[in-house]
Amino acid sequence: MESAATQISDEVKNLDLERYVLELETDGLTVVPPEVTGVSPEFLDRCTNVLLAKFTQMTGGCPITLADGPTGELRWPKPAKTGLASLRPKDAPPPSQMLIQQLLQLDRCFRDLFVNPVVDALIDHLIGRAPIAGKMRRLSSTNSFVKWQGEYGYGPNLGLHCDQGGNPLPWGPKALTANATWCLTDYTREHGALAYVPGSHRSNAHPMAGAAKAAKPVTCKRGAVIVWPGATWHGAYPKLTPGLRLNAVAYYRHQAVLPQENMIVTMQDEPWDDCDDPAMMRELIGFDDVFPYQAQNQPVPTLASAA
Ligand SMILES: [Fe+2]
Repeated sequence: MESAATQISDEVKNLDLERYVLELETDGLTVVPPEVTGVSPEFLDRCTNVLLAKFTQMTGGCPITLADGPTGELRWPKPAKTGLASLRPKDAPPPSQMLIQQLLQLDRCFRDLFVNPVVDALIDHLIGRAPIAGKMRRLSSTNSFVKWQGEYGYGPNLGLHCDQGGNPLPWGPKALTANATWCLTDYTREHGALAYVPGSHRSNAHPMAGAAKAAKPVTCKRGAVIVWPGATWHGAYPKLTPGLRLNAVAYYRHQAVLPQENMIVTMQDEPWDDCDDPAMMRELIGFDDVFPYQAQNQPVPTLASAA
């Protein structure tokens, strides 16, 4: 009998995506070119222009182009203790990457991008379905990594991690999270590409020491989308070239682990601290949890002259 992990959906068959599914199963990552997803250069231009304009707005006026990156002097707030910034070594140089969060709110182009049927079929394959409830993939976040020339990287181990690493082991054959990274610039190693360890998803465990030796860059053209499950070991190379590496990332989650009651919302105006241990109650409800956030929670630099 066929295992759940290798079942092929009608969507995958109808869209002729078996080769990408095979890559996902064997390598733990696949790259789908724009000819297959159907995104046009004009559409990619629109996504790019929206992000560049948003960067300038968020930074208080810093100009930015694909060719040159940010052309103003940027000042960063104090380093965050959580999130991506916490992965950076203590002696790291100033960041050369900023996250633009909540792309769904930014422009229709991202809402269109994130309902692409080709990517959806691949994500559905990774995350799977429940017998009654249907497709289990849900969006977790939508972000753009704006990365420019600099030493920014995650150190010698390339920041290798599994996106579903916050979930307790053992993990099963279905992905608990999955990532679709739409490349808005070419990806090469020197250009600060994604790094990953082929086949690492099959360990269904966190990266082992020294895994970076087996890592390789994901090389692809603008318009390609990189898809991988939450068990694949990945990180990134520093960007050694001028200009920008730009993407739009749809990050997905399995629908299963959720609060049945959204207490962070339903209890916020209720007397939650009227109990024997308000600190414990606060933690149980999750008021201080990093996720789910409701507004940008990653650091934003500002143009020095505007400070
Ligand atoms: Fe990641």
